[in-house]
Parts: sequence; structure tokens; C-alpha cells
Amino acid sequence: MTTEPAAERTEGDYVLVLNGPNLNLLGTREPGVYGSTTLAEIVADLEAIALSADPPLEIEHVQSNHEGHLVDAIQTLGPNAAGIIINPGALTHYSIALRDALAAIGTAAIEVHLSNIHAREEFRHHSVVAPVALGQIAGLGPDGYRLALHYLMARCQRSPGAN
Ligand code: DQA
Repeated sequence: MTTEPAAERTEGDYVLVLNGPNLNLLGTREPGVYGSTTLAEIVADLEAIALSADPPLEIEHVQSNHEGHLVDAIQTLGPNAAGIIINPGALTHYSIALRDALAAIGTAAIEVHLSNIHAREEFRHHSVVAPVALGQIAGLGPDGYRLALHYLMARCQRSPGAN
């Protein structure tokens, strides 16, 4: 599910949701670790929450298995976003390029992980992205994305709707 970044967006009227390598496989990928919810379901859920905000927000979603594509999305769509929700997948643990892109634009970003990376293999404990993120949510499954969106909505004074 690689979406080409939209050319033009109005400043602050959308949240950028970024998902890194292999997250397109959610639903079938190691369900014991990542659950059975698909990425499409997660994004649809976020869209419903964002649309019910007052005033409404949109979700701009980009999933890519390619580091450079995610860097491009941060550079093009990040500066005008009301906030960023990013699950960098394995890139979390080594992508200085992603970290630098987030640091360069300075838009508030929340790092989300479906699994509790701190309770897994040692190589997953360290995130190179975390120091440039506003915060990190790990281990709460798809709820992590929802909580991150609610936080960003509150931060940009959007009242939550019924979702
Ligand atoms: C992940 C955790 C990463 O360590 C892993 O490489 C992923 C998914 C998560 O959402 O739990 O691809 O970011």
C-alpha cells in the first residue's frame, strides 16, 4: 500500500501517518506479535476519528518498504501537517535518515509500535527515532495509533467526536 504523496495540502488540516517496511503485511504477518488487524483497517479507523473532530482533520497515509520514499514523504507532507504518527518498522532501529528528516522539519511526531519493542529482542530496544519524537507508544496494538491521533488532535485544539 504505497500512496504517492498528494501534491498540495492546506497547512494544518491533516495528520501524516507513516508506516515503514512490512507493515503492509499486517493481518497476516506474525499475528501472535502484531495481531490480526490489517493496515487498511487501522487507517480507516484513524480516518473516521480524524473526520469526526471539530473542525475535522484528514489523514494522509503513506506506507512504504523503502526508506527514501518515507524520507520524501516527511519532506513533502511533513512540514504542513498538524502532526505525524510514525511506525518506522525495522527502520526504527537504524535509520538515521528518517531521524534526520523528522528533525529537519520539526513537526510534532509520535512514534508508534504495535508490539512492545522493549520486551522483545535486544536489537529492538533502541530507537534512533525516539530522541526526535515527541513521545513513543509501544505495545498497545492498533490502540497506539488511536491514542497518538487523539493526542495530536488535542494538541491542535480539535475536539474529539463520537469515535
Ligand atoms: C514494529 C516493531 C519493529 O521492531 C519491527 O521491525 C516492525 C514493527 C511494531 O510496530 O511493533 O516492523 O515497529
